[in-house]
Amino acid sequence: MAVHEQGGLKTAEIAPATGKLGVMVVGMGAVATTLIAGVEAVRKGLAKPIGSLTQMGTIRLGKRTEGKSPLIRDFVPLASLDDIVFTGWDIFEDNVYEAAAHAKVLDSDHLAQIKPFLEAIQPMPAVFDQYYVKRLNGTRVKKGKHKCDLAMQLIADIQAFKKTVDRVVVLWAGSTEIFLEPTAVHQSIAAFEKGLVDNDPSIAPSQIYAYAALKEGVPFANGAPNLTVDLPCMVELSRLNSAPITGKDFKTGQTFIKTVLAPAFKARMLGVAGWYSTNILGNRDGEVLDDPESFKTKEESKLGVLDYILQPELYPDLYKDLYHKVRINYYPPRGDNKEGWDNIDIFGWLGYPMQIKVDFLCRDSILAAPIALDLVLFLDLAKRTPQLANIGIQEWLSFYWKSPQTAPGLYPEHDLFIQLMKLKNTLRHIMGEDLITHLGLEYYD
Ligand SMILES: NC(=O)c1ccc[n+]([C@@H]2O[C@H](COP(=O)([O-])OP(=O)(O)OC[C@H]3O[C@@H](n4cnc5c(N)ncnc54)[C@H](O)[C@@H]3O)[C@@H](O)[C@H]2O)c1
Repeated sequence: MAVHEQGGLKTAEIAPATGKLGVMVVGMGAVATTLIAGVEAVRKGLAKPIGSLTQMGTIRLGKRTEGKSPLIRDFVPLASLDDIVFTGWDIFEDNVYEAAAHAKVLDSDHLAQIKPFLEAIQPMPAVFDQYYVKRLNGTRVKKGKHKCDLAMQLIADIQAFKKTVDRVVVLWAGSTEIFLEPTAVHQSIAAFEKGLVDNDPSIAPSQIYAYAALKEGVPFANGAPNLTVDLPCMVELSRLNSAPITGKDFKTGQTFIKTVLAPAFKARMLGVAGWYSTNILGNRDGEVLDDPESFKTKEESKLGVLDYILQPELYPDLYKDLYHKVRINYYPPRGDNKEGWDNIDIFGWLGYPMQIKVDFLCRDSILAAPIALDLVLFLDLAKRTPQLANIGIQEWLSFYWKSPQTAPGLYPEHDLFIQLMKLKNTLRHIMGEDLITHLGLEYYD
């Protein structure tokens, strides 16, 4: 294995991204089809990968005076978009073209240009149980004696796909499952495997997919807020099989803006009395989230960020009494074009109140697709990087999540710009470059 020098230490080199990268997407709905169609449109030169840090972002190396800022994809060995091959699972029979047409994120002219490519991707039958997603009724669902049998069928799917590509990543872009909490069955691999055979109700389908992927040494990303890999058994499996995992629930619209604004208030020591966030959304995700049990899963994920960023225990005068409310309302006419309103009651000098209103007319899947792409590419990079492959949780990818995953006992970092700095410094670190601390005193020597 090749080595390079880093701070006097010899470090093993990252394996090159040669050959095909297989991406297995669980749930071929709005996000998945927008990701797949988008990658193909970019490959054909029909559009630009806007919103993707891996495709458009640069990274500064060395001092500001050196003027070295390569593209991230030229700096670290990422898989090329041309080498990505997609497959996946869904509970409906639609091929990716039909699913994309149903999702109505991309317009028909856009889809028509890549129709044959999209039509050729047919999802495999899914592992699904309506108990965990009440608003959906699947028609193409695997059958098995118990959950272990279903896991084995997924493992067989992954093994078969592995024969056609060089590396694989699994991405959950499936619906939000009901709110679950960890139980005894999640505390070790052995307990989980027994739970699979016993059909333990605490094991949701998303966990069965995650187990299958990690068992196969395949990185797994969870785009939804479900309890899936944030479990001791999955962390153990991830480390054991060098299958990187990271946080959950794509940080796309309202929470993205929240994790930009809240650090700004804290930086200026401005108080926040209340933060009311509401959304209207009319896609299938909105329909699923209309069920109170699935909404609770999303609510927990959305509510967490402010407490961690504002640290009321450190700043009781500013944030102790903050009232934070999040609502999601299913409103079919809007489709995937969500509207998110925030009313923020802040206070300043001597406690005088002020208000900020944010009205974000966003497109959910247009924001999510580039995040999904970056995660797939960075998880594949992590798998090929000796310093990252067997550490389990990739905290440096917190940037992309509403709920970043961390080592036990660590609070998650939610501030978007700290997250970006952590991500870029990790890339510098694995490539043997100096970290950037922003100290900058050397310019004044
Ligand atoms: N779009 C965003 O901005 C955004 C942001 C954060 C999180 N998310 C989450 O991403 C997920 C996908 O969002 P979407 O808008 O594409 O939803 P969607 O409803 O359009 O797609 C979800 C797909 O998953 C399928 N599915 C459900 N359970 C499955 C299972 N067990 N196996 C295989 N397929 C299954 C459904 O049939 C559907 O086709 C949701 O959980 C959503 O909450 C989306």
